[in-house]
Amino acid sequence: MCGIVGYIGHREAYPIVLKGLQRLEYRGYDSAGIALFDGSDLKMSKTKGKVADLKARLESEISTDGTVGLGHTRWATHGEPNDVNSHPHYSNSGELVIIHNGIIENYDALKKELKKRGYTFKSDTDTEVLVNLIEDVIKKENVKLGKAVQIALNQTVGAYAIAVFNKSKPDEIVVARLGSPLAIGVGEDEFFVASDASPFIEFTNNAIYLEDGEMAVVRRHKDVRVRKIKDDSLVDPYVQELQLNLEQIEKGGYEHFMLKEIHEQPNAISDTYRGRMLADKGIIRMAGVDDNMERIANAKRIIIVACGTSWHAGLVAEYIFEDIARIPVEVEYASEFRYRNPIISENDVVIAISQSGETADTMAAIKLAKEKGAFAFGVCNVVGSSISRETNAGAYTHAGPEIGVASTKAFTTQITVLTLIALKLGKFKGTISQSDFQFHLQEMERIPEKVKEALKSDNLIQEIAYKYRYAPNCLYLGRGYNFPVALEGALKLKEISYIHAEGYPAAEMKHGPIALIDEQMPVVVIATKKGHYEKVVSNIQEIKSRKGKIIAVVTKGDEEVRELADYVIEVPETIEALTPLLTTIPLQLLSYHIAVMLGKNVDQPRNLAKSVTVE
Ligand code: G6P
Repeated sequence: MCGIVGYIGHREAYPIVLKGLQRLEYRGYDSAGIALFDGSDLKMSKTKGKVADLKARLESEISTDGTVGLGHTRWATHGEPNDVNSHPHYSNSGELVIIHNGIIENYDALKKELKKRGYTFKSDTDTEVLVNLIEDVIKKENVKLGKAVQIALNQTVGAYAIAVFNKSKPDEIVVARLGSPLAIGVGEDEFFVASDASPFIEFTNNAIYLEDGEMAVVRRHKDVRVRKIKDDSLVDPYVQELQLNLEQIEKGGYEHFMLKEIHEQPNAISDTYRGRMLADKGIIRMAGVDDNMERIANAKRIIIVACGTSWHAGLVAEYIFEDIARIPVEVEYASEFRYRNPIISENDVVIAISQSGETADTMAAIKLAKEKGAFAFGVCNVVGSSISRETNAGAYTHAGPEIGVASTKAFTTQITVLTLIALKLGKFKGTISQSDFQFHLQEMERIPEKVKEALKSDNLIQEIAYKYRYAPNCLYLGRGYNFPVALEGALKLKEISYIHAEGYPAAEMKHGPIALIDEQMPVVVIATKKGHYEKVVSNIQEIKSRKGKIIAVVTKGDEEVRELADYVIEVPETIEALTPLLTTIPLQLLSYHIAVMLGKNVDQPRNLAKSVTVE
């Protein structure tokens, strides 16, 4: 939801800011812009389109000199994506420049007030209102930039991560955050500011992550002063050592991040259980669960809140928790949950699942649940993210950075973590026998190898992708544990190839979607041996008798479905609860190859963003 990046120091800012924007493009990519200060002039270039479009334009439009720079890559909220609405935005005097990720909700009232005071606006954005509000405060109150930003922000309602520069105070950048992430990279005599640490990882391992409601004045040759926006109190900043490395955020020889991330799943899954699970000893250690075992295991109900792919992981978890730990589970879209006056009690445990840990609706749902006394548990991928901090306890997925907008390894590692939690709870409650528990752990340990085997179907999947690449619609069917996988498979196809796809519980097909089936319609059916196999085979028969094209994901060695299907993709056998970790793989590859064959931008599909920090 917009990426921001800034630099102040002794190097040329332009290449740092440009590269930083390329790395943050997953957050939004409908327009981009950069402002540079070369010691006397503040210059800016911005455009609708991607960072690559900006580069071409900027280098012919302005000189790239300067040791201070601010850059922005946008996912539009207020105002359509066009050159004028792109960030950065100047204040009316041209002295101040701002970049902003978030929404200023009361911008309209503020704008009217500023117009009365003679301010004019070029864009439709809330951000241009904010920069002029800051300018107005400087003029009215005769204060420095930091103070003016603070006073202005105390008049706003909304969410933001901002960076502001004043050309008459060229040795500082002022940043602030509320609801949108902001990291400050602390180098030798130089500072970086960005939505995450990826823009500065090759320059420094030291970062300060601002907390919600904090602002900082970043001063060249000096230091970083952090304060609370509300009451001006000074905060001692915690400088964290980053674990991220450059390799993790580069494509490593793959054509797209999505493909790289699909292939990273064997390692991502083992990284997620490694150190937690001792299969031979029959032990799972997870501090976030161990320290709160009574509270979680005695929950009357577990409510899972999430969005998008994470919501699908929540649906898989519903099956696992109810099956293994015998705790009732409800899975909710965070955006619905938070606005429907839900009944939550102190005996409930609310689990938020979020790759980014920043999704605004999931964050709001957790806050609501906590207010009502529930225990909040986070399953996040990004360490130190807002949701991971807001929850009472949690367990990270160790997927590493996920950059492709369509989520892949985050999904399978979320399922891995949730399975471990369910097993731990089941063992504690006695709802799973020791031998069954041990067997699950041993099977989990075999999953990475089995994922590798599932990835070997790539050539066959390319053939299937080629055959059906022009299909206007596609149906995905699954039952039990594999019903959420069907939803996820359909979402992947929609997201990156723009083909309309629906996921359905296989048995529900006859209550509607069966009417769609004709000889043009590809139907992807997950028909693994474990879990309602015979019933799914009957569903396949129903499709076949209506001439639908059947692509079946089956357990290795299956002959029955092979007789019926147009294509079969085999995955290794495993226990039912773990099948989603394998059946997901061919569906990810299928959508990937179709999108590539259609010439779509796989890593940055239109209209989407990786991290949705607005409601
Ligand atoms: C966006 C992304 C999806 C993701 C969803 C939830 O829509 O494009 O890939 O599943 O947000 O994100 P989260 O970070 O909370 O898992």
